[in-house]
Amino acid sequence: MSSEVIIETRNLTKVYRDFWGRPKVQALKALDLQVHRGEIFGLLGPNGSGKTTTIKLLLGLVFPTQGDALIFNEPTSNVAKNERIGYLPEESYLYKFLNAEETLHFYGRLFKMSSAERRKRVDHLIDMVGLTSAKHRQLREYSKGMQRRIGLAQALINNPELILLDEPTSGLDPIGTAEIKELIRDLREQGKTIVLSGHLLADMQDICDRIAILHRGELKELGKVTDLLTVQDVTQIKAKNLPPSALEEIREVIARHGVENVTIDHPTTTLEELFLRIVRESELHPGRRKVAADVRPFEELTGSAQKS
Ligand SMILES: Nc1ncnc2c1ncn2[C@@H]1O[C@H](COP(=O)(O)OP(=O)(O)OP(=O)(O)O)[C@@H](O)[C@H]1O
Ligand SMILES: [Mg+2]
Repeated sequence: MSSEVIIETRNLTKVYRDFWGRPKVQALKALDLQVHRGEIFGLLGPNGSGKTTTIKLLLGLVFPTQGDALIFNEPTSNVAKNERIGYLPEESYLYKFLNAEETLHFYGRLFKMSSAERRKRVDHLIDMVGLTSAKHRQLREYSKGMQRRIGLAQALINNPELILLDEPTSGLDPIGTAEIKELIRDLREQGKTIVLSGHLLADMQDICDRIAILHRGELKELGKVTDLLTVQDVTQIKAKNLPPSALEEIREVIARHGVENVTIDHPTTTLEELFLRIVRESELHPGRRKVAADVRPFEELTGSAQKS
């Protein structure tokens, strides 16, 4: 991540008005933030907290009620900047009767790419989002996950420097989610700046360098994910195959220093990691997987064993 500021908002505020021009919803309240080149920045918040509104304000699709936003140091009303931006909206707006290839060629033409350049880029993107086998099917036949993938490919057609993704993994299964997250990390490797929104905490934690937490249009927290999640007053020591004798000595040392409330246990993995590992293992070794609980006696599983 460099210190170059790609996005800056100052007092960015949006009030949606009703048909008569009366203020209806304050969707975003005085947002101040900066996004730097090469980072993955997450907008995290519950439904209706202002994530989509923020992204639309950055793109110049809606106008701020107060405050302003700069992208590449230019006001968002400057349309020339759009050539350097890719956008995946919350809901697909792509033409349902085109297939994946036609869709990308269509957008490539909008960006005035030559046909040779376009062909190369379209093939590359379709392969990258994993739609090669479905590229001749009309989008109306696509599953939710496939629609997300073609949307992402479309957002990348102009090889943008800044990519705004509104819930990129919504509707994707864990495998699809993992693939998209990998893809987003690859984009960061290429030096791109990525802003994404979401409310799936584990995914946001996994992928974002920094996050902003929004609640009812207000910025509640902003910072590096690792900093926000570090529990400062707890120390954790990890070791593999620690012999019981060592464990005993460690307990003694801690006790000698007068520290109480010591927990020594085995770390747990996330459900996501477990799920992905099982799926990958199953692909390598098809067939019934031996489940740990299966080998325990029935009485133990049901709790019907007599305790002696
Ligand atoms: N065009 C609109 N007219 C009136 N109110 C709107 C409009 N768009 C959004 N809002 C309101 O602004 C608030 C923020 O909405 P926004 O779509 O930005 O939230 P979000 O964080 O993206 O939510 P979600 O997780 O459901 O996508 C909500 O109260 C919503 O009802
Ligand atoms: Mg939204």
